[in-house]
Order: sequence, then structure tokens, then C-alpha cells
Amino acid sequence: MAGPLQLKELKKERGILISPSLLSADVLNMERHIGELKGEADWLHVDIMDGHFVPNLSYGPALVKALRKRYPQAFLDVHIMVEPAEDFLDMFLSAGPSLLTVHLEAAKHIHRALQRIKDAGVLAGVSINPGTAAEPLTPVLHMADLVLVMSVNPGYGGQSFIEETLDKVRWLFRVRGEHGWGYLIEMDGGVGPKNVARIAEAGCDVVVAGSAVFGQPEPSEVIKEMRRSVQRG
Ligand code: DX5
Ligand code: ZN
Repeated sequence: MAGPLQLKELKKERGILISPSLLSADVLNMERHIGELKGEADWLHVDIMDGHFVPNLSYGPALVKALRKRYPQAFLDVHIMVEPAEDFLDMFLSAGPSLLTVHLEAAKHIHRALQRIKDAGVLAGVSINPGTAAEPLTPVLHMADLVLVMSVNPGYGGQSFIEETLDKVRWLFRVRGEHGWGYLIEMDGGVGPKNVARIAEAGCDVVVAGSAVFGQPEPSEVIKEMRRSVQRG
């Protein structure tokens, strides 16, 4: 499994890493939909929702486990929108994620939660909602492998990108350079071919795209188009 350094190299080579969200795939045809990505996706994003931290229910650890079994080499980018996050760590860690991202707002002890993820040999991500400032993340930035900036209020696919959230990406990019921290910066929600270049320009390394990819007749072409758009700048 790729570590943070290899991920940085991969990002440099590809311009941006793209993580299609399975939330927008048809549950009864998930395997077919993943096949339609034709190897163009860098990661697979799995959104876990509890109907409590966010107003929707989605999948549980069984899906992560099944994906790991079916795709042993895939980079599984698992985003848990569950509260309290700590109560769900063990069940997701044992399901085989490559990266496990928890929300700052959903963990009482975010430092401990990230440490537990790292101790399990899994990359540790921390996420913030659009209504949360980035500065409160400061004490854990040195230990995070990834920071996920939500660009919509979590709960549903297909919402509009919230422009102001880009300021947090710029800030995270700047302080990472100043301190020599190693996290990747990811954005999730309302991302597609039209805005991905601007998002990359702000300093984002990884984008999640749900409806823009799976809602289309040729998902792999959308990914290629997004990558071309970033390379064109
Ligand atoms: C929102 C989810 C997102 C969502 C992205 O709670 O975390 O991953 O599926 O979907 P789009 O790209 O359709 O906004
Ligand atoms: Zn997500």
C-alpha cells in the first residue's frame, strides 16, 4: 500500500488525484460501475453516513470489507461521517481501508483518534465541514496524512460547490509549506470538470467527485477530462 511519500510522487506525476465517490454509483451495480472507471481513478471514495452526524444513511464496514476483498490493490479512501467517531474506528480499521478520514466535529479526542488510525497502519485523515474554520486543526496537522476540506455540507451527493471553502485549502497549502508538514489536501463535494483546475490551483492534491463521474455515460472520460483540465491549468 502506498505511504504518504509515494502519494506525493504520484500526485506530482498526475497533477491531481481523483477519488470517485461510490455514493453516486448504483448499489445494485457497484462492480459494473467500478469497472466503468477503466482504471482511470486513482482512489475509490467510500462515504459512510450515520443519519445522526449527517442527515443521511449510507454504507457500513461490510462494503469496505467487500471492496478490499474484490480489489486487493485498490486505494480505499474511506470517509466516515459518524458520531462519535471513536466508537466506529475499530470496525472500519479492520475492514481494510487505505486511508480513514474522521471529522474534527465528530471526535471528542481528535488527536487520539488519528493516533489510533496510524497505530493500525492505516493513513489518517481529518475532515472539516464548510462551517468549521481550518485553524482549529493546527495541533494535529503534523500527524495528519490528509486533510479533507468539505466543499458542501456533508450528507448528499449532487450539491453545489461552496466557493469560500477554497480559502481553507489555500491556508492549509501555505502552512504546510511553512512548517514542512506532509499531509495531502483533499476536497469533497460539488467537484467536476468545470471547477477542478481552480481547485488544484488553490493547492488541492486530491478531489472527490461523485455525481460528476458516476452520473455520466462515460465515467472514465470524465476523469480524463478532469485530469486534462488540471494539466492545462
Ligand atoms: C457528501 C459526500 C461526498 C459526495 C460527493 O457528504 O461526502 O463525497 O458524495 O458527491 P458530489 O461529487 O456529487 O458532490
Ligand atoms: Zn466524502
